[in-house]
Amino acid sequence: MNSNVERTLVLLKPDCVKRMYVGEIITRFERVGFKIVAMKMVVKSADFFEKHYYDVEQRHGREILDGNLKTMTSGPVIAMILEGVDSIEGVRKIVGPTEPRNAPPGTIRGDYSHYTYARADSNKVAVRNIIHASANLKDAEYEINLWFTPEEIFEYKTVHDVFILE
Ligand code: PPS
Repeated sequence: MNSNVERTLVLLKPDCVKRMYVGEIITRFERVGFKIVAMKMVVKSADFFEKHYYDVEQRHGREILDGNLKTMTSGPVIAMILEGVDSIEGVRKIVGPTEPRNAPPGTIRGDYSHYTYARADSNKVAVRNIIHASANLKDAEYEINLWFTPEEIFEYKTVHDVFILE
């Protein structure tokens, strides 16, 4: 299997921003060498998040999509693009499983949340898992294109590029 330098989208959700873990979470990605090539803080509309979660209604139903829209529009999010070798899979490994109850200690969701789908569904909100990361290459390309213009994405070298290129 080939290893490629990829880009993936990460969102620090409104609960992450309000709980003031932005710096700690970004540090985890920087520490392993994933490069931030784009980043911004924004408040987005429900219409925008309906585009972001384009297949959630089909896969999980309207109520779960609505819960996501409510949660994601409840405050600012930090959006970033991370670049690195097999970064889509690597970032998801650091982030951990979507439902916090299944996220092991050591993963971001396991270390910073303990919510369940059942709780989210009875409260009609998204599962409070503090972070979103693209699930696969197709989603990463779609989400990066949705969130950032080419002018907002930067190319530069970090010390890790030396090891990536070797
Ligand atoms: S994933 O990781 O993309 O495969 O996640 P997925 O299972 O497709 O879920 C998509 C987003 O919907 C949220 N979600 C839920 N919220 C509340 N209740 C239930 N049952 C539920 N199932 C899924 C989940 O948090 C995903 O959002 P992100 O932004 O990926 O965390």
